[in-house]
Amino acid sequence: MPAGFEVKDNRVERRYNPEPMAGRKPLPVSLPSFWESLYETGDDGWDLGRPAPPLVRLLREAPPPGGRVAVPGCGRGHDVALWRRRGFDVVGFDFSARAVAEARRRGRNVERRDVFLLGREFPRAFDVAWEYTCFCAIDPARRAEYVDVLARILRKGGELIALFYPLRESGEGPPFPVRREEIESLLARGFRIESAEAPRDSVERRRGCELLVRARRRR
Ligand SMILES: C[S@@+](CC[C@H](N)C(=O)[O-])C[C@H]1O[C@@H](n2cnc3c(N)ncnc32)[C@H](O)[C@@H]1O
Repeated sequence: MPAGFEVKDNRVERRYNPEPMAGRKPLPVSLPSFWESLYETGDDGWDLGRPAPPLVRLLREAPPPGGRVAVPGCGRGHDVALWRRRGFDVVGFDFSARAVAEARRRGRNVERRDVFLLGREFPRAFDVAWEYTCFCAIDPARRAEYVDVLARILRKGGELIALFYPLRESGEGPPFPVRREEIESLLARGFRIESAEAPRDSVERRRGCELLVRARRRR
């Protein structure tokens, strides 16, 4: 077995490392200042200016039963606003002061937090976590840690609804590439995938590069 890997549920997985940054210089994306400057200069091409269309459809056609929703890396909070309009008790989290200020100015319930610290503050506090474009924004070496945070903030049986983007084999980031096998292997750490579909209503420039996943927290 190569160092840093283990066998879990008959799969070879990267061993969970609670201190992934130890001895390693953080990538710029791990610092709020990186995102802050992109918001400041308007280099925020990820911002759709509206909720993600697959989420709009999901909440119309097959919404979760209700409850408390977390939106990590929510940016200006367009998805937070949608969850609220659909009657959910929702809070968004982002570590960019500017994104949080802009979200709040629009009346959205957003807190300034580093998503990697949410597990300590909000253990089992949420019924649903909505992930969109935070997974691809963080240091890829921290993805397992991020998935563990999502599992920790959800109650047992809680639901992770995630729109993974951009599905591609390789390339620079952010957004860092996402592969379906990686998603399945990482989610196996704490979730049971209930559905995974390529949404037909992604925004034009992301069409064919997104995967909508609904998964249940196992432990
Ligand atoms: C690509 S943007 C997406 C924003 C939003 N989800 C959207 O679709 O508009 C990534 C966001 O994640 C935030 N972010 C990245 N790493 C973070 C971290 N460790 N903790 C909190 N927020 C983080 C950034 O500040 C940025 O707002």
